[in-house]
Amino acid sequence: MSASSPPLLRVQNLQVVYASVVRALRGITLEVPAQGVIALLGPNGAGKSTALRAISGLLDLHDGAITQGRIELSGHSLLTLTADSRVRAGVVQVMEGRRILDALSVEENLLAGGFGMGLQARKELVESAFTRFPLLRERRRQPAGYLSGGEQQLLAICRGLMRRPRVLLLDEPFLGLSPRAVGEVSELIRRISEEGVTVLLVEQNAKVALGLASHGYVLETGKLVLDGPAERLREDPDVQEFYLGFGREGQRGYHELKRYRRKRRWLS
Ligand SMILES: Nc1ncnc2c1ncn2[C@@H]1O[C@H](COP(=O)(O)OP(=O)(O)OP(=O)(O)O)[C@@H](O)[C@H]1O
Ligand SMILES: [Mg+2]
Repeated sequence: MSASSPPLLRVQNLQVVYASVVRALRGITLEVPAQGVIALLGPNGAGKSTALRAISGLLDLHDGAITQGRIELSGHSLLTLTADSRVRAGVVQVMEGRRILDALSVEENLLAGGFGMGLQARKELVESAFTRFPLLRERRRQPAGYLSGGEQQLLAICRGLMRRPRVLLLDEPFLGLSPRAVGEVSELIRRISEEGVTVLLVEQNAKVALGLASHGYVLETGKLVLDGPAERLREDPDVQEFYLGFGREGQRGYHELKRYRRKRRWLS
């Protein structure tokens, strides 16, 4: 990571347990610079969502706790802040599975994203989401549940933007989307990053994630096993074999996994 500017977000030696026993993160250290997209990759159960929850302050909801380590935003510890104060400090998470409110309208979903802000500010931000995506304006009064999967993901991200984040934490935004929708969502991520919002992108779709990111980290069973410039990771034979060859949909089960375990070099 570049030494020229201090990181916006710094996670040091972070350890997390669930229910006092499940060690989900075993000391991870990562840095998110003040600009661009950083990818956090890893298979099911690696601890990706846990890392995001620790950063956004949502571990309590899952009976999780940080047992060791530091999380800093611009050099200030986030650990003593509630989830809501972290949002106000600029750390906003968009959860896995596009948690939009199906029965509320598109507009109501956006307004709900600005909870706690003044009505005028919220209306302006809704307006900017509509300008970004005229489709959301056209369907503003329809239940959000009527949108396609890709449109729901765009809505979920726009709802996160309502809080004017400095860093947006995205948990598997491409999950279950068609290739076309993946293209639209990645275009949105690229644009918001160009507009100055830093993105920490958790994904299993390494191909798309490493296409957007400048730097990537690979997490496995609670530990970082690899990190480097996105370009270099794209060329890494292990990353290619395990992540670029097939994504979650294409995971071919135990035999490939066994072969991968035998062949992978990054733990040896
Ligand atoms: N609330 C919980 N209670 C107990 N264990 C949990 C809880 N949430 C997650 N875990 C465990 O912690 C580990 C990390 O889970 P996490 O959800 O962070 O992984 P992930 O990388 O996001 O996986 P996925 O790609 O499937 O979303 C897993 O072993 C999981 O079973
Ligand atoms: Mg997850």
